[in-house]
Amino acid sequence: MSQDAAASQVGAGQFAGRVAVITGGARGQGRSHALELARQGADIALVDRCADLDTVTYPLATSDDLAETVRLVEAEGRRCVAVEADVRDLDAMVAFVDGVVAELGSVDILIANAGISTLGSIVDMDATQWSETVDVNLTGVFNAMRAAAAHMRRNRWGRIIAISSMMGRSANPLIPAYCASKWGVIGLTKSVAHEMAYFGVTANVIAPGNISTDMIHNDMLYGLMRPDLESPTKEDVAGPMTSLHVQPVPWLEPEEVTAAVVFLCSEGARHITGSVIDVDAGASARFTA
Ligand SMILES: NC(=O)c1ccc[n+]([C@@H]2O[C@H](COP(=O)([O-])OP(=O)(O)OC[C@H]3O[C@@H](n4cnc5c(N)ncnc54)[C@H](O)[C@@H]3O)[C@@H](O)[C@H]2O)c1
Repeated sequence: MSQDAAASQVGAGQFAGRVAVITGGARGQGRSHALELARQGADIALVDRCADLDTVTYPLATSDDLAETVRLVEAEGRRCVAVEADVRDLDAMVAFVDGVVAELGSVDILIANAGISTLGSIVDMDATQWSETVDVNLTGVFNAMRAAAAHMRRNRWGRIIAISSMMGRSANPLIPAYCASKWGVIGLTKSVAHEMAYFGVTANVIAPGNISTDMIHNDMLYGLMRPDLESPTKEDVAGPMTSLHVQPVPWLEPEEVTAAVVFLCSEGARHITGSVIDVDAGASARFTA
């Protein structure tokens, strides 16, 4: 959308006339971002795998989840395109984004949000687990950026937001692939920010703490948090989850990450690029810088 067209839509929501692409948009944080950007005027394009992965021990989103997000976006009066595809597939991501431009007119905002969490020891980690985690969490972010960046550069406007993690700025034992991939997302995004700075496109990272979604509320993570218990419950893991933060809360809501997404997409953030915003209940107070 041109700047004149954007100006003419003032009053219709700050993102009126914008198109936001969200990977991993079927549920969780991706759904929250989709709904709020739609409420504030954006049309939405979602991509999600909607199928489980071999090395991920909790269920990923389903086709029904994706359809529900589409329904909720459309209930906000916005257009919504949804495709089932894997962020690891560059050709599929390019075809998806080109299709979005053809159908909705542009791609102005990219939220590279799709991700998986896996656990394993460096002593005996399966090679497939390593590569699946890095391929989804890091190469998947690259693929989404690669698919969208040329369109944004041509439009001389764009907002790229990559979702890392507090584990992309620190570390815990038994999640080396997740940590490595999320640290990598920050380096990737900073390089893209530098390149795209000359074309009106910003690129930033959000590093969430524990966010209350299916990624943390599952047997795998509960078992890691409370190895002393056979079947730990949500109440059992609240204490160890809280210890990962500084503020005394075990997890935040997806909408708290969405607030940072909205800010980074706003005109007020036009001169913020290459940054990492921590939405982590103070966990970043422990980091060196
Ligand atoms: N939940 C947390 O505590 C937490 C903390 C820090 C960072 N994060 C990050 O936030 C992002 C969103 O996670 P969430 O908490 O909403 O979890 P989630 O599991 O609910 O959402 C992740 C989404 O990504 C999709 N997905 C996974 N692999 C995919 C692939 N190969 N191709 C396309 N889609 C794929 C899933 O189907 C799911 O819909 C992830 O990048 C995650 O690593 C989460």
